[in-house]
Amino acid sequence: MNIIELKNINKVFGNESNQVHALKNVNFSVEKGDFVAIIGQSGSGKSTLMNIIGCLDVPTSGEYKINNVEVSKMNANQLAELRCKTFGFIFQRYNLLTSLKATDNASLPAIYAGVDAFERTKRAEEILSNLDLSDKYKSRPNELSGGQQQRVSIARALMNGGDIILADEPTGALDSKSGENVMKIIKQLHQKGHTIILVTHDKSIAAQASRMIEIKDGEIVADIRNADDIYEMKDKPLQVARGKLAHLKYSLMEAFNMSVHAIISNKMRSLLTMLGIIIGIASVVSVVALGNASQAKIMERINSMGTNTIDILPGKGFGDMRSGRVKSLKVSDSDYLAKQRFIDNATPNVSANGTLLFENTSVNAQLSGVGAEFFEVKGRKIAQGRIFTPEEVRNMASVVVIDDNTLNEIFPNNPNPVGEIIIFNKKPLKVIGVTEKDNNPGPMSDSMKLWTPYTTAMFKVNGNNDISTITVKVSDTVNSQVAEESIDNILTALHGKKDFFMINTDSIKQTVESTTNTMKLLISSIAVISLIVGGIGVMNIMLVSVTERTREIGIRMAIGAKQRDILQQFLIEAVLICIIGGFLGVTLSISLGTAINYFSTDFGMDFSTTSIILALTCSTAIGIIFGYMPARNASELNPIDALASE
Ligand SMILES: Nc1ncnc2c1ncn2[C@@H]1O[C@H](COP(=O)(O)OP(=O)(O)OP(=O)(O)O)[C@@H](O)[C@H]1O
Ligand SMILES: [Mg+2]
Repeated sequence: MNIIELKNINKVFGNESNQVHALKNVNFSVEKGDFVAIIGQSGSGKSTLMNIIGCLDVPTSGEYKINNVEVSKMNANQLAELRCKTFGFIFQRYNLLTSLKATDNASLPAIYAGVDAFERTKRAEEILSNLDLSDKYKSRPNELSGGQQQRVSIARALMNGGDIILADEPTGALDSKSGENVMKIIKQLHQKGHTIILVTHDKSIAAQASRMIEIKDGEIVADIRNADDIYEMKDKPLQVARGKLAHLKYSLMEAFNMSVHAIISNKMRSLLTMLGIIIGIASVVSVVALGNASQAKIMERINSMGTNTIDILPGKGFGDMRSGRVKSLKVSDSDYLAKQRFIDNATPNVSANGTLLFENTSVNAQLSGVGAEFFEVKGRKIAQGRIFTPEEVRNMASVVVIDDNTLNEIFPNNPNPVGEIIIFNKKPLKVIGVTEKDNNPGPMSDSMKLWTPYTTAMFKVNGNNDISTITVKVSDTVNSQVAEESIDNILTALHGKKDFFMINTDSIKQTVESTTNTMKLLISSIAVISLIVGGIGVMNIMLVSVTERTREIGIRMAIGAKQRDILQQFLIEAVLICIIGGFLGVTLSISLGTAINYFSTDFGMDFSTTSIILALTCSTAIGIIFGYMPARNASELNPIDALASE
């Protein structure tokens, strides 16, 4: 039975102006189990013929059948399948992968056939030991002699069965003794039933084959049969009883291992490539963390201004120069507002600057006249004593609540000042309570604060009924925006004009939130540019890597790697670089954040799992996007061109 049939095969290289007709109307067939030598001078077209037979190259015209199936009708995957399972290549220059051990080199084709690691290694060691290499399993090609390397390459050719062994000048680079040894092995393979096609320019080697075809200037000039020995297949075929999934798994694992290997063997280059990704990811993650932390901090301060409160101030707004002098707000406004159903309570606030006197100490301090609800609304807690009652507010009681700053300043030696009398602007006030330390200190955190009933502040201290602000606590069930509008309407109606403005903590919160979010987005998009630059770096280095490893790609294709396998390998390498970069970036950012959180109280970083997951997803995406083009270039290489590259 003919395993190979060639009819009128022509191969023309080059363009119209510079054509080389390497093969001219070549016709012959090879019987299963035969041993054919192709002989001819240098440049006669032997290798060209061999490459066409091995499905590494396609003829310009003619028919080529393997096992009665026309090869020209096959797609790239089917051709790869043939190279993988049917052919075994032995090259003149061995073509082993320099980074792999002998067993791994020998077992490489089985990866593309979908065999698991254990069985792969077992079979490879078995074949290597049959070839007298049992002590060289772990040696890399540069630790082996030429003859030994050629035997490893023979083992590789046999790995997936090697029904048809294609040997192009297998002894060409060897000394005569190693050459003889290799020929002996090839003859044994023939006897075990492998079909052998061997290319040589040496008549004595060709004479050892059963059939000798001589080729001259691309034409067959002689076809001589020396012996009729055709053998049945006796060698163990490779057992692959696995589905597509297992195949995918092994090729993915192989791609992953190769990528790790490639990254480790080019440490500096990989690190520099990753740098762009590291910086990009670190800045995005840091910006978001910084934004989150400062937003939380600002929110905390706003919350300390009281929840659901609206402050009403005289004037047109912040920056209104007159607002200090405008006395448009009255106690009656506050009383009127307090009666509204949507308002829990409203208190007028009066402020007075003056001198505080106690025994020999005299200091400047600020006195605020407030309502009894003030402390609850603003969330100020009492450390000792009590706050004043509504009764005392009505009666203009001369009582005062002081804060911890005042306590430390005025009563340095008396931690329990309740009951003491202090003098503010010549008016005696009795201390009834001390507030707790403010745990959300604002900008003027070390100023001394004192609170009296607003009635006391107006009539006893200031001597007039001017009030500076009104604080309104809106019912929890009412939307603060709606409340603000209603207050606006009421006061405008009362005053006949709008001579006040409001500070609504809720709307401040919303503004702060939206501002920080915008800032985060803005700075993040700048950081994304760095990520894109990083991605271009990855693409660049992958293109270099593909160029450097073109020969490796050629070898892999020759022994059965599909385009998908090659694409996968380079894509995984790019993604791996980016993921490692992303991981390092996140780590860098977190360590930076930890340091900042440790040393600084003003700044902080708040990392969210979402942003970290997002960053890592982003770096994976960059790997895929920027790695795809180089990987596709690699996978679309022509096997024969790739093999020929140095
Ligand atoms: N890729 C190519 N582009 C152009 N011409 C080519 C190409 N490959 C081979 N040739 C030409 O085709 C002819 C046959 O080359 P081939 O490599 O098949 O020779 P060979 O018989 O294997 O020689 P050798 O014994 O030196 O290896 C030569 O003239 C060569 O210059
Ligand atoms: Mg050649």
